[in-house]
Formats: sequence, C-alpha cells, structure tokens
Amino acid sequence: MSTALNWTGKDAAFALGERLEQQSHLGEVPHFIRNGDTHVPDVAENMLVVGDNLPALTGLLATHRGRVKVVYIDPPYNTGNALAYKDHGHDHASWLNFMTPRLMLARELMRDDGVIFIHLDDGESAWAQLLGHEIFGEDNSLGTLIHQRAKGGGNSPSFVRGHDYVHVWAKVADQAGAFLTEKKAPAKLEIIDGKRMLVETDVLRAGFGRYARGQERRLMYEDIVDVKGAKKLAEVDAKLASGEYVLRQWGAQGKHAVVRVTPAEKASSKLYSIIKALGGQNDLEDLGLGGIFSYPKPVDLVKTLVASQTFFDPDAIVLDFFAGSGTTAQAVMAANQRDEGSRKFILVQTPEPLQSKNARSLVDADSETGFPEISRLTAERIRRAAKRHDSEFHFTEIRVAEQ
Ligand SMILES: C[S@@+](CC[C@H](N)C(=O)[O-])C[C@H]1O[C@@H](n2cnc3c(N)ncnc32)[C@H](O)[C@@H]1O
Repeated sequence: MSTALNWTGKDAAFALGERLEQQSHLGEVPHFIRNGDTHVPDVAENMLVVGDNLPALTGLLATHRGRVKVVYIDPPYNTGNALAYKDHGHDHASWLNFMTPRLMLARELMRDDGVIFIHLDDGESAWAQLLGHEIFGEDNSLGTLIHQRAKGGGNSPSFVRGHDYVHVWAKVADQAGAFLTEKKAPAKLEIIDGKRMLVETDVLRAGFGRYARGQERRLMYEDIVDVKGAKKLAEVDAKLASGEYVLRQWGAQGKHAVVRVTPAEKASSKLYSIIKALGGQNDLEDLGLGGIFSYPKPVDLVKTLVASQTFFDPDAIVLDFFAGSGTTAQAVMAANQRDEGSRKFILVQTPEPLQSKNARSLVDADSETGFPEISRLTAERIRRAAKRHDSEFHFTEIRVAEQ
C-alpha cells in the first residue's frame, strides 16, 4: 500500500475498517429492523437504510458483499457542521478518518467490475483523491470527471467557480469496461427478439424547419414517393430489406413510420469527461420539495454516471451511502425508465434533523417533532419520484438496529 498520504489517526482508521470487514466473516454484523422486526436485506429490493452508514455498510456485508456494481457518493465536506462526528474537529485528518473505514467497506461491497464515483468540491478533492488511491489502489484509478454545475457564481474572490470533481475508481481497473453514453438522445431502447436495440421513430422527416405543436413531423412510408420521390423510396426499401429500418404502424390513418433499429452496443459512445448538469434544486422543486435541502445534485448527472456503467447491465445494484435528498434513487428510476431496466438502489442516510424553515410542511401525521429528519425527506422524495417515473416501484425502509 502506498504511503503517499499520512495523517493523525490513519492507522486507527484502517484498523477500524479491517475490524468491521472481519465482523461479517465472523457472522457478527449489525442487523436491520423493519417495522419493529428483524429484516434481512434482499439483493432484489430497493432500500433506504436510515442510520449511520458505518454500521449500515457493515451490516450490508452479510448479504451484499461483492454485489454492488456502482457506488456514487457526495460526502459531506469539511465544513465543520456536516460531519456526523463533530467532536473530531474540523480538519482534513478528521475527514479522512471519517471516510477511511466507510470507503473500505464500500470496496468490499463492490463487484470486481464495480466502480465508485466520489463527488467533491475543491475543499476535500485533493485529499480524497489520495485517500482513494490508498484504499482502491492507484492502479485502479480511472481518472476524474468534471461536473459543470453552474454558469456562474461570483462569490469566490479568485474566479467564478462553476464545477466540481467526480473521482472514479474501479475495484479492478481492467474489469470495469468503458463508460458509455447514448449517442442519439431522442431514441428509445427496446428489447426486440431478446436483443437490446436503440429505436428511432423519426428518421424520415416531412421537411426541414420547425413544426407546430402536435403537427406530425414524421414522413410516413406511404407518402415518401409524393414528398421525396421514387429514388428516396428505393433507398428506404433497400434499408427495409437489410433490416436497418422497419415499418411501424403510426397514427390513426393506418400509415407506417419508418423506424431505424440499431443494436444498443453500436449506438453508444464513450462518456465525455466534462459533464454539464444543472438544477439539482429544480429537480426537487418539480416534486414539490424545493428549498428544503441545500445543494442536492442534479438527477441528470447521477443518471448519466449510473447509466454509463450499467448500459448493458440494467439489473445492477447502485449504492449511495450519503443519500441526502435521495437524488441517486431518482437517478436509478430515471435510468430504468429510459431502458425499461430494473436497476436497484441502496441508499443510506442518517436521521439528522432537517433544519429548514420549509421542513414543517413535510411533517407526517405520525411525527412528534417539529422538524422531520433528513431521512424522512429522502423517503418522501423516493415516493414522489416513484410516482413520476414508475408506478410499479417499491422500496423498503429499514433501520440499523441499536447495538
Ligand atoms: C452532501 S449531502 C448529499 C446530497 C445528495 N447527493 C443529494 O443530491 O441530495 C451528504 C449527506 O450525507 C449525510 N451523512 C453525513 N454523515 C453521514 C453518516 N455517517 N451516515 C449516513 N449519512 C450521513 C448528511 O446528512 C447529508 O444528507
């Protein structure tokens, strides 16, 4: 192991991580409670685990060791008030001590072809990168993505800061495979004859330019000769014969749209290292939950990251153990909606009080406190996002049992 980074408490932090990893081998892991009963997590369920992620990750080792394909985390920064363990002080060492055992456990939960995305701003980015090298191995570092999050923000004395960093490691570098993204955004993925195909329904347009709302922009097969001539029809017929195009009944007049079907693997391109995604707060506003949680990440960003490693693996398990408002759950749902996948998520969030003037509107009937916990917002966001993305969707809310 590299000794590039040293800090006060490092040995103890690694020793703690190792001890917790061993607990599951000894069968002594924390267990989970659901509605008052012991609950054994299932790899086929979506879960929100309410509690500290250290015992939560340790407990998950019993059922999920080596099962997680994608980890995305946006940990609390070293701001002094976000850390669960405030008594450690507010320096980089306490942040590293906090993160070390958690990342070690996350690594144990990852599949050999799994990857971890660690999202950070300037404050902890350099330290996190060195820590990640220590835990996952510098050889397994796949690089750093830039998240372009804003057009501007003039608060910084030096320059306008509009980005942060997403460091990426694989558990085993050469097993993760390329990070993919869809080449053609408007197309839809469908399973045709058991194969994943990208389906474009508007390859032929009636003409150039703008279309009025509701106006049919597709050129129907039956109208090709009249609009584009016999040569065009012959061209289309040749592609129909080769299987590149198929006809699909379209609209009320019994006509057919010309549809292009491409095997999914041919319709992807590698992810570009700069990802622009704005509007995490807007995503929450769209669900009626705006202004309650500060700095949620954009659903689109996390969806892009998740999809990039699950392009051909739409049943994969995705883990976020600093869940916050639950962006990752919604991103998983959005990715599933896109390709009819059944990716699963595991989110972990402490029941910290949510200090917000708007939080009162979220108080449930069964709440006895004035302000609900962040984890209550997470759960409510998952419920609302589920209605939007997938009405068949279920998730299990569990707690880490007191030890
Ligand atoms: C920066 S926020 C994550 C925001 C999230 N990515 C989103 O888009 O909403 C970090 C979250 O980690 C939670 N957290 C901090 N320490 C934790 C711990 N030990 N276990 C579980 N959650 C923790 C905080 O309460 C906070 O909600």
